[in-house]
Amino acid sequence: MPVKSVANLPVEGTRVFLRVDYNVPLTPAGGVADDARIRATLPTVRHLLARGARLIIASHLGRPGGKPDAAASLEPVGARLAELLGQDVVLADEPVGDGARKVVSDLRDGQIALLENLRFHPGEEANDDGFARQLASYADVYVSDAFGAAHRAHASTVGMTKHVGVRGAGFLLLAEIDFLSRLLGTVERPFVAVIGGAKVSDKLGVLESLLGRVDKMLIGGAMANTFLRAQGHELGRSKLEAEKLALARSFLKKAGDQNVAVVLPSDLVVATSLDDDAPRVVPVGGVGPADLALDIGPATTRAFEDELARARTIFWNGPMGLFERAAFAEGTFRVARAIGANRRALTVAGGGDSALAIEQAGLVGKLSHLSTGGGASLEFIEGNGKPLPGIAALETEETR
Ligand code: 3PG
Repeated sequence: MPVKSVANLPVEGTRVFLRVDYNVPLTPAGGVADDARIRATLPTVRHLLARGARLIIASHLGRPGGKPDAAASLEPVGARLAELLGQDVVLADEPVGDGARKVVSDLRDGQIALLENLRFHPGEEANDDGFARQLASYADVYVSDAFGAAHRAHASTVGMTKHVGVRGAGFLLLAEIDFLSRLLGTVERPFVAVIGGAKVSDKLGVLESLLGRVDKMLIGGAMANTFLRAQGHELGRSKLEAEKLALARSFLKKAGDQNVAVVLPSDLVVATSLDDDAPRVVPVGGVGPADLALDIGPATTRAFEDELARARTIFWNGPMGLFERAAFAEGTFRVARAIGANRRALTVAGGGDSALAIEQAGLVGKLSHLSTGGGASLEFIEGNGKPLPGIAALETEETR
């Protein structure tokens, strides 16, 4: 184990800085819309509280750009955390400064302070050493459970760690490393990856890395449009990346050379607008000039379900269509259900949209692992397991 587990850190009666990723979606009224990332850290939080740690929890939320922004306050997050734990969470109204210092120094054993959004200060994303030292001065032990932010080399994920003597990983971070590393090791075959979402360009690195590992790659979502266009199909007004066609072609050629079957949609659900209440199913090749392809079609969905039922290892990232709208959600939910139904396979899904689809389909707990990281899980796989900055920063001489 390259990093120490929180289970083995001396935390009793100590001030512990816990970096989490509570970058959660909020409702228009400012409540927490999805608390999965908060709940995922509870084992670590409870472990620390049970040992009498004085807990300083810190996170970013959104991209406020280095200055305070009421719409990105962690207040609703603190309220939700307090509700889940059944104990008070004191919110400091700034990440660093006199107010934050006072909240931290008033902490008693087993109490929690939540610092205000780290990205309210420009030093966070700049990984400024002065800001990092101020954060580090709050605690004697640093624990990270912030897998979702582990690909960011910021002051709270990397910079401050060298200024805290004792550091390690929380239970969530350890589970993320464990399951994602398993995908990169020797796995049972067939190994099938299902990749969707909007852009080929965002995921090319991970697609290329997966080519060397999987037997089949099923591609849906708007990114499939780019591949289909690259093969010469007309896609009407569908979303695609016209400037990435050469890249898409060379990827398909590489996959062929490596004997990896890339399965693209054979039919699509199309509509003339997002509000069109009479979407049609057309074969690829039947997309009209006014059409938008918004979901994979039923024949494609069945083909994907068959592949997923046969698979012994599955990685899923990205929706198959515009699943926020019921008319275009079928492909994504059926893929989610097919993955959840395969109890013999190692099943790992990552990314906010895939995680949301799994929750909405009532499948939480049916997969081997549901990653809390979007970009982080993709970068982990893309880097072939090379520790992300926020994980490498936890390694110490002793644990190497
Ligand atoms: C995420 O939601 O992927 C993480 O919290 C990272 O957020 P960021 O992309 O704004 O750094």
